Amino acid sequence: GPRIAIAIDGPAGAGKSTVAREVARQLGFLYIDTGAMYRALTLKALRRGINPADEPALEALARESRIDLTAGYGGGCRIFLDGEEVTEAIREPAVSRNVSLVARVPGVRSNMVRRQREMAENSAVVMEGRDVGTVVLPGAQVKIFLTASPEERARRRQRDLLAKGHHLSLEQLIQEIRERDRLDSSREVAPLVPAPDAWIIDSSHLNTDQVVEMIIGRIRGRV
Ligand code: C5P
Repeated sequence: GPRIAIAIDGPAGAGKSTVAREVARQLGFLYIDTGAMYRALTLKALRRGINPADEPALEALARESRIDLTAGYGGGCRIFLDGEEVTEAIREPAVSRNVSLVARVPGVRSNMVRRQREMAENSAVVMEGRDVGTVVLPGAQVKIFLTASPEERARRRQRDLLAKGHHLSLEQLIQEIRERDRLDSSREVAPLVPAPDAWIIDSSHLNTDQVVEMIIGRIRGRV
């Protein structure tokens, strides 16, 4: 029968990754970061100098690429692109700036969605992304749409980047987050919208533990 799946969607910087990883750890489910797959493909496109508007080239790139997630149960998710570890490289600002352009290409999305469904076939998963509850796993038993104000998301991103040695101004980050939201929400295929049956959580004034507790409580009541 179908495996248990928890979908966690929402905009950039809402805290999805931290929350999804911790929920997966507590439940003993596999954690899958779908954004990392789009990032890996974007990194490859940038390295090859492919224009993000060249849809056929991006589709071909998706078809010929090996993307492996070694999802730890509970641990983070390591990402390999054609056998090379790119876990760190896919977080670079240049990738963040271009990923929405790559992710809006329909042929890229269908390729990634197929891979994501295959991963959910063999294990109980907590899958994180933008379209997990709406497109990838519409039958997921619990769907969460995690959001926060753009200002709060920019502050969190600024802290994360600073820890990695990148200093970006809050103004620039707010602008980048708004632009990414705009692109992700307005694209034709699989726009960023909550599934009709998603539980919307605004984490602007909640910490990670509080959000995790809310989600675990909901899951225990459902599955
Ligand atoms: O989650 P993260 O911020 O790493 O995702 C990077 C980008 O990948 C998003 O801004 C979005 O453009 C794209 N994405 C997507 N569908 C997903 C996950 C990510 O389009 N399921």
